[in-house]
Amino acid sequence: MKGVKLSGIGSTKPSKVLTNADVAKIVDTSDEWITSRTGIRSRHISSGETTIDLAIGAANKALKDANVDPSELGLIIVATITPDNMMPSTACSVQSAINAINATAFDISAACSGFVFASKIAVDAIRVGSIKKALVIGAEVLSKAIDWTDRNTCVLFGDGAGAVIYEESDINKILNIYTGSDGQAGNALKLTNMPVNNCLIKTDNLSQNFMSMEGREVYKFATSIVPICINKVMENTGYELSDIKQFILHQANERILDCAAKKMNLDKELFFKNLFAHGNTSAASIPIALDEAKVSLKSGDKIILVGFGGGLVLPPCHLLFSLFCSAVGYKHYSLCSLLLY
Ligand code: ACO
Repeated sequence: MKGVKLSGIGSTKPSKVLTNADVAKIVDTSDEWITSRTGIRSRHISSGETTIDLAIGAANKALKDANVDPSELGLIIVATITPDNMMPSTACSVQSAINAINATAFDISAACSGFVFASKIAVDAIRVGSIKKALVIGAEVLSKAIDWTDRNTCVLFGDGAGAVIYEESDINKILNIYTGSDGQAGNALKLTNMPVNNCLIKTDNLSQNFMSMEGREVYKFATSIVPICINKVMENTGYELSDIKQFILHQANERILDCAAKKMNLDKELFFKNLFAHGNTSAASIPIALDEAKVSLKSGDKIILVGFGGGLVLPPCHLLFSLFCSAVGYKHYSLCSLLLY
């Protein structure tokens, strides 16, 4: 099996920033309510940028960071639940834009766990020798999937994209990847699409569907599953929690991060946070966080990436989760951080 390292990171956000005060002009809410319940103070919102635009922006930065030419890529995967088109895929659009003529390209849909799932596919492909270099992107324009009259959801989400390059390496720096799903998941978090509407069945109501969420159930699910996933990776690798320099979790809600830290008896400062400026960007959240966290990482640091998201079921069987553990070989710091999901 080949070794794999992460050699480049990049992210991009729409230029327009929507503060809590701005949102309070749209729905009955307040900066105090949003900040105290979620930690979110503002989010970047598309004023025309598409999911493809954001994905290309992040991809170009990651390629530059890794000093990789697009023609070297054997694989491009975009994780998104808000593609501009069902066909062609976002990944194929990126491939065309950056001229990655040798890459196989496709999208995956796994909500907030999408980046970690896509990373697993790419890392496994490099490990077995199918390809040498892969571009993995998480990109979302969630603002188009939000009901801007629903204060339960519209305050939570933002738009953006993050990308990484994985490549074959003499020294393996991706130590463990742990994922799981449960297809029996319930309806706590839903974004439906395309009802059957053909020559046999006529659907009258074809209005646009928006994201819906049972916030408390999502909260219970996330705070229970995150410690389980992290401990699983510790078990798989033989490392202790005290070996980990930084925990980079999906940026859904500050209270979820703080609760996870408390449950594991860890200092909450070990948990990276940028959600106050981005909101929840679903599949883009982890690579954006990784890009912003990298300045504080140095050679040898071990980090853990944890995704959790849509697909979950109501208690007692909370289920869809993902945990990503990789060793980041980040050139600027010639570091060998290691991490997981
Ligand atoms: N502004 C003001 N009031 C609001 C708002 C708002 N934006 N949203 C809801 N409320 C009201 C409700 O209507 C309710 O009023 P009522 O008591 O008169 O009925 C009251 O606030 C309490 O509502 P709850 O939903 O019980 O509030 P809670 O304290 O649970 O906080 C929250 C809601 C922040 C969504 C919380 O449940 C949570 O953090 N859940 C996790 C959800 C999450 O992070 N989702 C992200 C997507 S999932 C993912 O990424 C994996």
